[in-house]
Amino acid sequence: VIDQPVVYSRLDLPLARVLARGWPRNLRAIRRSLPAHLHHAPLSAAARCGFWVVTAKVGRTPVGLAWAVGEPGGAYIEEVAVLEPYRCRGIATALLGEIARWMIELDRPNLSIFPLSDTRWVTKAGFRPVECDRYVVDARTIVEPPGR
Ligand SMILES: CC(C)(COP(=O)(O)OP(=O)(O)OC[C@H]1O[C@@H](n2cnc3c(N)ncnc32)[C@H](O)[C@@H]1OP(=O)(O)O)[C@@H](O)C(=O)NCCC(=O)NCCS
Repeated sequence: VIDQPVVYSRLDLPLARVLARGWPRNLRAIRRSLPAHLHHAPLSAAARCGFWVVTAKVGRTPVGLAWAVGEPGGAYIEEVAVLEPYRCRGIATALLGEIARWMIELDRPNLSIFPLSDTRWVTKAGFRPVECDRYVVDARTIVEPPGR
């Protein structure tokens, strides 16, 4: 049971820091919930066009992570991961919402993602499939759902 609020924040994590020293230790712990082949995967070249990281924390402990890299007019969401005991409470959805708000501010509303396996949480968040397992959404429709 989470007895403290989940706090979402945009991380000031310079790309150069991750390239030189890897992910900070507490974020590595979250990334271990991703498939093993990703644990030591190098950052994609697109990170040089933008690198944005958001975390979900309970107290001082990060329990969820989402990060995106630059694409023309938008951002590609590279990874979303939530520690197992904290899943199915809407944390991944809220992380996507935080990325969406950030990208709207940067005038990069076109978000895309290649979900790893399960796609239901991605479509629930508002993404729709386009081609080759790629899902897209206009960030403005996540932050301000139509009809509101
Ligand atoms: C996928 C993942 C990020 C989802 O995190 P989460 O915080 O549990 O997701 P949410 O609680 O925001 O879920 C949103 C919706 O999707 C559903 N959902 C979440 N994970 C699901 C799964 N594995 N299978 C089916 N539905 C799922 C939730 O039930 C929820 O629906 P609801 O509102 O009707 O309950 C998390 O399971 C995870 O870290 N998995 C391992 C890493 C991974 O595969 N990441 C995906 C990279 S693209």
